[in-house]
Amino acid sequence: MFPLACFWFCFDVPSALLPVLFLPASPAWAQVLLLADMYGTIQSPNFPESYPKDNELQWNVTVPSGYTIRLYFMHFDIEPSYLCEYDYVKVYSETEELAAFCGRENTDTERVPADDVILSPGSMLSVAFRSDFSNEERHSGFEAHYSAVDIDECRGKNDEELACDHFCHNYIGGYYCSCRYGYQLHSDNRTCKVECSDSVYTERSGLITSSDFPKPYPKSSDCVYRIEVEEGFLVTLDFEDSFDIEDHPEVPCPYDYIKIEAGARVFGPFCGDRPPDRIQTLSNSVSIRFHSDNSGENLGWKLTYASAGSECPVLLAPPNGHLEPLQSQYLFKEHITVTCDPGYSLSLPIW
Ligand SMILES: *[C@@H]1O[C@H](CO)[C@@H](O)[C@H](O)[C@H]1NC(C)=O
Ligand SMILES: *[C@@H]1O[C@H](CO)[C@@H](O)[C@H](O)[C@H]1NC(C)=O
Repeated sequence: MFPLACFWFCFDVPSALLPVLFLPASPAWAQVLLLADMYGTIQSPNFPESYPKDNELQWNVTVPSGYTIRLYFMHFDIEPSYLCEYDYVKVYSETEELAAFCGRENTDTERVPADDVILSPGSMLSVAFRSDFSNEERHSGFEAHYSAVDIDECRGKNDEELACDHFCHNYIGGYYCSCRYGYQLHSDNRTCKVECSDSVYTERSGLITSSDFPKPYPKSSDCVYRIEVEEGFLVTLDFEDSFDIEDHPEVPCPYDYIKIEAGARVFGPFCGDRPPDRIQTLSNSVSIRFHSDNSGENLGWKLTYASAGSECPVLLAPPNGHLEPLQSQYLFKEHITVTCDPGYSLSLPIW
């Protein structure tokens, strides 16, 4: 045996007096115990007898997704040291150290778990125990209990997106979403869409809005509103000022947009908070497409449409006759009466 080992054996020197240099580095042989039960107990080696020196042990607790792990200590007595650098119990999640404990009671630099309950952020928790090569006195170690706790996914955290668009239903180990009457659950199982592609407007004028206007429009939806008026009429669209479609500061309309198709012409896509100017579609058949993605709370849009007949060629009264009503310009489907001066009769065709 080399002298240093003898030194450890021969004297139980208080750890605090030993140069840090002499502390054994984390041994590569540290044993990891994998625990996958829904609850269980973790004890220091030899518990309730005093724990052995030079020991390193780790328990990795894993529960199914949909659960977190609650861990608390029923008994705790580990050799105290400044910032628990010699003997300790440490608790880790996958990514961070959650706690480091040593001692028998809290001091300036040492913490004991006392009544603290440790809750894992995810479905995995790791408890590491280490003892160094000396103990000033006898320490009885620790006993901890853990159990799987259901996550209430429906109780969203403040700045997080809600688990469900409309209704959230938590159950042990999971959750599911449902929608208000009139909506359907999208295949993402989270957002609620509407069926909104059946409307055909055949009146010469009318009003069209996004679903639920002026409340936020549904997510994950593709709506088509068709205006079909008599041939010869041309549809004009006027958006109201209240216009709000999710946009992006740099990319044009990547999320939600409204787009208008009239024959071969396409207007848009439009988004943002400024409505498009009046749109002369020059067509009697217009499709208004509105797409929304799975996020955002925007208020939508409202438009009125009107249709006017196309302009007729300039019309002049025939000689010895006059037109009723007299206008400089007549539109498709307007009616005129031609009357002749006394003594004359109409001979067809007059133009
Ligand atoms: C135990 O957990 C630790 C910390 O999360 C991890 O680094 C390590 O890979 C795990 N070991 C095993 C054998 O799962
Ligand atoms: C939605 O739920 C169904 C049935 O429960 C499942 O088969 C499907 O994979 C889920 N889809 C998504 C995107 O989670």
